Amino acid sequence: MSGADATQAVILAGGQGTRLRPLTLARAKPVVPLLNRPFLAYQLALLRDHGVTDVILACSYRVDDVREALGHAEHLGVHLRYVIETEPLGTGGGVRNAVDLMRGTVFVLNGDVLTDADLTVMRRFHQANGSRATIFLVPVADPRAYGLVETDAAGRLLRFREKPTADEPITTNMINAGIYLIDAELLRRMPAGRAVSIEREFFPQLIAEGVPSFGFTTPAYWRDIGSPSAYRAAQMDLLDGRVRTTLMPPGERHDGAWLESAVCGSTDRITGPAVVGDGVEIGRGARVGPRAVLGSGCRIGAGAHVENAVLWEGVCVGEGARLTNCVVATDAHIGAHAEIGADVVLEPGAVVADRARLGV
Ligand code: GDD
Ligand code: MG
Repeated sequence: MSGADATQAVILAGGQGTRLRPLTLARAKPVVPLLNRPFLAYQLALLRDHGVTDVILACSYRVDDVREALGHAEHLGVHLRYVIETEPLGTGGGVRNAVDLMRGTVFVLNGDVLTDADLTVMRRFHQANGSRATIFLVPVADPRAYGLVETDAAGRLLRFREKPTADEPITTNMINAGIYLIDAELLRRMPAGRAVSIEREFFPQLIAEGVPSFGFTTPAYWRDIGSPSAYRAAQMDLLDGRVRTTLMPPGERHDGAWLESAVCGSTDRITGPAVVGDGVEIGRGARVGPRAVLGSGCRIGAGAHVENAVLWEGVCVGEGARLTNCVVATDAHIGAHAEIGADVVLEPGAVVADRARLGV
């Protein structure tokens, strides 16, 4: 592998985002907003920061949403191309479908992980070990919902078991982080034109054939944002500075709060960390934050309180309402003195009655 290699990436973004409903009824999972930026912008910024600028998006579902949010992503310092599956081809098939655009060694990313993984160190590991496929591994407390990856002391892959059934013994807490470095030549060997799982077919076959394949780990922030609670938690982590990223929220920072434009009302009512979009109105005596994200055009009524919460664009919060630990999608309307808490997720355009109590 030459020094200039591994500057290409494929991002898998063709899933339907079922577990992130109702949010994904309004917007495709790859571009749901995190601190008012489309999610994929974080992955693109990470790739660019590690010298990966030629990026291919393997997608099949709601591609227009992604195009509208990111275009060719030149503003993020990369060039993004789209390869579209007419039928979803699975995680392996999606990569295989884009293989004609790839050469040398390529990064492959699941399009729903927020991470600050050091891709440069991973690339060095891959080269130093003569690896042909390297998987980034992270330890998790409960690995059952992921791909379990066993390695020997040198890091060689011994076993890849995707989502073991309840009766199978758990043999490791190291899981597939959905970040790979793989020789394009190997990817070309996957069958074309049918669904293929990279986890259930491609990796087990490499191991069976004895192709030099490794697991690699180094401390990093990592979270799959594919469920509503993880989607909110990821933003709380970003607000708390737990994720190293060069992608900042839109606007300028004042006292720990990012403001996209002048707030109508007083910024004294905002307690950082917080992110406040364009044209937001904050009523008398209302409190925003700590840890609040307001999309553009939100209106927060007098005396209302928003904390540990994420509001998409155009949400209207009635007087004296209290929103904590929740996610509210676009144009929802929260009645006066309503109380919303504990991981509640409201769909786009939801209407909550005055004094209603949800999740509290
Ligand atoms: N292009 C394309 N085509 N992409 C797809 C398809 C498809 O048919 N199906 C899924 N994807 C994309 C999803 O959009 C997502 O970005 C990624 O592939 C992984 O799919 P998920 O549905 O999110 O899988 P998961 O989270 O259950 O499991 C995967 O990720 C875990 C880490 O978060 C596996 O790779 C596990 O092994 C891994 O531990
Ligand atoms: Mg996922």
